[in-house]
Amino acid sequence: MKPPKRLQSLVDEGLIDEVVRQLMSGKEAAVYVVRSGGRTLCAKVYKEATERSFRQAVDYTENRRVRNSRQARAMAKGTRYGRQATEAAWQSAEVDALHRLAAAGVRVPRPHNFCDGVLLMDLVTDQHGNAAPRLNDVVFAPEDARRHHATLLGEVVRMLCAGVVHGDLSEFNILLGADGPVIIDLPQAVDAAGNNHAPRMLLRDVANLRAFFGRFAPDLLDTEYGLEIWDLYRRGELRPGVPLTGRFERASGAVDLEGVLREIEDAREEEAERRLRLQAAG
Ligand SMILES: Nc1ncnc2c1ncn2[C@@H]1O[C@H](COP(=O)(O)OP(=O)(O)OP(=O)(O)O)[C@@H](O)[C@H]1O
Ligand SMILES: [Mg+2]
Repeated sequence: MKPPKRLQSLVDEGLIDEVVRQLMSGKEAAVYVVRSGGRTLCAKVYKEATERSFRQAVDYTENRRVRNSRQARAMAKGTRYGRQATEAAWQSAEVDALHRLAAAGVRVPRPHNFCDGVLLMDLVTDQHGNAAPRLNDVVFAPEDARRHHATLLGEVVRMLCAGVVHGDLSEFNILLGADGPVIIDLPQAVDAAGNNHAPRMLLRDVANLRAFFGRFAPDLLDTEYGLEIWDLYRRGELRPGVPLTGRFERASGAVDLEGVLREIEDAREEEAERRLRLQAAG
């Protein structure tokens, strides 16, 4: 096909030989199948911040380290410069996360290049070489649901060991590749240690996996892998491949993890209110 405008500069620079077809146009990006140096790759073209929920971007960008304080102030104020900085941080967050996770052996598409707001990465394919379906488009036998659920919990653990929480993990952001599930769509990924939202996001990611695979294997519905994983992480005992039970003793006396999370959340809300008051005052 004729390259769309946003891909033309990559064609001109020789990063893309040919645009084969458009795969998807989602809320945040348009995705294309392209040929590059004899390989078939995936090109994710980010949409402008204004086309996305900007508030969401700000929420996820909280606590992410920015290069200088002028940038940080502008981002907090939401000025045009600040929006551009937020936008750039958002896009590079996905690229950074992919590099970090691919290096840690997590099942993500390998990133190849990031240029002019376009991410070039492996195309996840099915056994016929076609673009892989999302989990949401597949029906599973109970034993396959349990197997993929276990694989993906292992990937969540591996990600957390690499310091990353996906933050939007669900059946819509996992593709079923020829050799198993592959995790995609990471612009909102957060630093597990440095972001107040991290525990809440981790629990939500794991709960999404439970709800989806629980449709096919209802026995998964009363597992508590999220709390178990976060507790191991918090205690410094999380390792890739660590055996998990799916059980978590809430009233173990030692720590009431959900209570701790509630307190973190309360503190965060208080801080947000304080900032609003400061803004109103000054
Ligand atoms: N590396 C890839 N290989 C194959 N297909 C991909 C790849 N990356 C993205 N896709 C396809 O493009 C779709 C959108 O990608 P992604 O989820 O990263 O963007 P998005 O803007 O968040 O889209 P959405 O709003 O639909 O979630 C995916 O659901 C998937 O079908
Ligand atoms: Mg997506």
